[in-house]
Amino acid sequence: MVSRVIPVDPFDLVVFGGTGDLARRKILPALFRRYCAGQMPEGSRIIGAARTDLDAASYRTLAAQAIRDHGGGRACEDGTLDRFLGIVDYVTTDAQGDQGWPDLARLLTKDLVRAFYLSVGPGLFGDIAQRIRAHGLANGQSRIVVEKPFGHDLASARDLNRTLATHFEEGQVYRIDHYLGKETVQNLMAVRFGNMLFEPLWNSQYVDHIQITVAETVGVGGREDYYDRAGAMRDMMQNHLMQLLCLIAMEPPARFEPDPVRDEKLKVIRALDPVEPHHIVRGQYDPGGEGPGYREEVGRPRSTTESYVALKAHVSNWRWSGTPFYLRTGKRLVARSSVINVVFKDAPHSIFGPEAGRHANILSIRLQPNEGITLHVTIKEPGPGGMRLTEVPLDMSFAKALGPDGQDPPDAYERLIMDVIRGNQTLFMRGDEVEAAWAWVDPIIAGWQKRGEVPKPYDAASTGPLDADQLMRRDKRAWRGIKP
Ligand code: BG6
Repeated sequence: MVSRVIPVDPFDLVVFGGTGDLARRKILPALFRRYCAGQMPEGSRIIGAARTDLDAASYRTLAAQAIRDHGGGRACEDGTLDRFLGIVDYVTTDAQGDQGWPDLARLLTKDLVRAFYLSVGPGLFGDIAQRIRAHGLANGQSRIVVEKPFGHDLASARDLNRTLATHFEEGQVYRIDHYLGKETVQNLMAVRFGNMLFEPLWNSQYVDHIQITVAETVGVGGREDYYDRAGAMRDMMQNHLMQLLCLIAMEPPARFEPDPVRDEKLKVIRALDPVEPHHIVRGQYDPGGEGPGYREEVGRPRSTTESYVALKAHVSNWRWSGTPFYLRTGKRLVARSSVINVVFKDAPHSIFGPEAGRHANILSIRLQPNEGITLHVTIKEPGPGGMRLTEVPLDMSFAKALGPDGQDPPDAYERLIMDVIRGNQTLFMRGDEVEAAWAWVDPIIAGWQKRGEVPKPYDAASTGPLDADQLMRRDKRAWRGIKP
């Protein structure tokens, strides 16, 4: 099945931090791929803005290199890159001074959609937002895009929200959590709310527990300073895993529109109980395989930052009371694998007797890699000699199911940037959601600091610290394996 491309209106996109890592790895390649797909109409422009003193030609060379290095070029015919570079421009701009702003203002086309992508540290959000206003860059169709980390805790997130609100309406602010732009993450909503089959069982009466795993094989290479200040709790749990939890646990929104969806997600976050200290495990990887240990990698021999976190959460509402959610994420684990397992309760009574065995139904939603869904069902073990039960997977790979013409789904950034241009905030976090997530996370981190807790070591290329297995075992449950 070939995906349909619906062109957006012509736009001007200004990328602040346009020479930075995110712009080079994600934003420019994503824009190029959308250009190749024919989604960007004539008249659209991409303007890099940064302090680096470059002319437009040198910026185009940088952009071309970034696109070649980061997979932007697939499925694109010869010559397209040159045509794309023709819509790319650059202005040397000082986020904290006046240099460049009048030039930027002159470059923008009156009445087009204007998106300002703040691919910079949160410390500059206020300076840039204020100068966009002061230099008259904003028009009636302006949007401002900000990246995570959206603050370091509740207080800093509130400050950022207040700062942005001084210059822009909430309806113009697009807070990116790139997990929401992933094809399969949206499929969570399609599976839940597009089928009659699952929703009646989607509650504590039928679901024993839910496991959400986001395992990575990469370490923190290249971002040591940021990561050592953040750790897995702030870097992944507060945002990506929390968003997955919301999509799994939320009530059906009345419509697939920004506020109905975000209202329901917010209710889930607000229904989360505080996490008990013994329901959470922090870990830090030791050297292993080819790689260094965490402390060596970040160059801080005494660091107590966690590169792994597992916890048990409770959503205290009518639907979920009594069904625990186990969440875990870590770096340098045995495989790259993001999976949600919805583990159903056992049948209330086995007519086959205890010898036949029992197997819980499990719905596994694989987010990456090998995107797809597997439903584990119980059948009879083949052969004579009585009734013995076994488990088989009803396995669907999205790539196979969508046929030989199936293209790689657009990368999260491709979808999210196009949604910004369309003015659709459904897949972006609202300010109150981000604050509620910090309000849940802050006491956990404060507890660690107060108790002086240090993370448990785990071997690189393993499934994480043994204490995380213990967390499950205490409840007579077990994590599903981490498989590529
Ligand atoms: C980022 C985190 O938000 O997500 C990184 O800062 C992490 O530490 C990354 O590696 C994971 O994203 P993905 O798309 O590779 O699963």
